[in-house]
Amino acid sequence: MKKIAILISGRGTNMQAIVDARLPHEICGVISNNPNAAGLHFAKSRNINTCVVNHRDYPDRESFDEALGNAIAALQPDLVVLAGFMRILTVGLTTRFAGKMINIHPSLLPAFRGLDTHERAIGGGVKLHGCTVHFVTPNLDEGPIIAQAALCVRPNDTPQTLAERVLVLEHEILPKTVAWVLDGHCTMEANHVTLDPSIIDDSFSFQR
Ligand code: GAR
Repeated sequence: MKKIAILISGRGTNMQAIVDARLPHEICGVISNNPNAAGLHFAKSRNINTCVVNHRDYPDRESFDEALGNAIAALQPDLVVLAGFMRILTVGLTTRFAGKMINIHPSLLPAFRGLDTHERAIGGGVKLHGCTVHFVTPNLDEGPIIAQAALCVRPNDTPQTLAERVLVLEHEILPKTVAWVLDGHCTMEANHVTLDPSIIDDSFSFQR
């Protein structure tokens, strides 16, 4: 059984989707930078080990990431999942877990890196929007893409309705991507992702 560490900052519904997927792997811990993250309650209710590394307790990004990296390493995970973890990571931390850390992002990367993706999608008038799971590399939201799910932006969509509709897709693609990486169906080498032929057709989806 392989071990998954999940990092959250808030609600934690993506973490919940991984837990509820009942993958044949152990969730060895949920770590949050925010002591008030609602997702911590859910994790505790499932008897999952939780830990807070509060970024406010550290003078700079480097010392926070050092402590965060040590908390992750103590769990000895095979995979680290950023599931709504709202901190920009240092090169040191991303390098420490290179090839073993994935992130879910609420846009079709490389469009709309960073924050406020749904507002920007509506503002940009795009007709397709969605979410992406990718390996984490030093540049924000730029790592090699593993899976994406897209939907049509409706004329009456607001940032809120779009966020809700994209979140449903996030909950579908994140657990399956976690399983692919852990089961060796998906590998990253020299910043390039290789998917098993058996999962290629499942690595993208589209909903009208
Ligand atoms: C999700 O939409 C996730 O894609 C996004 O935060 C939300 C967390 O929701 N992540 C980012 O924006 C990372 N840059 P959740 O806490 O309910 O999983």
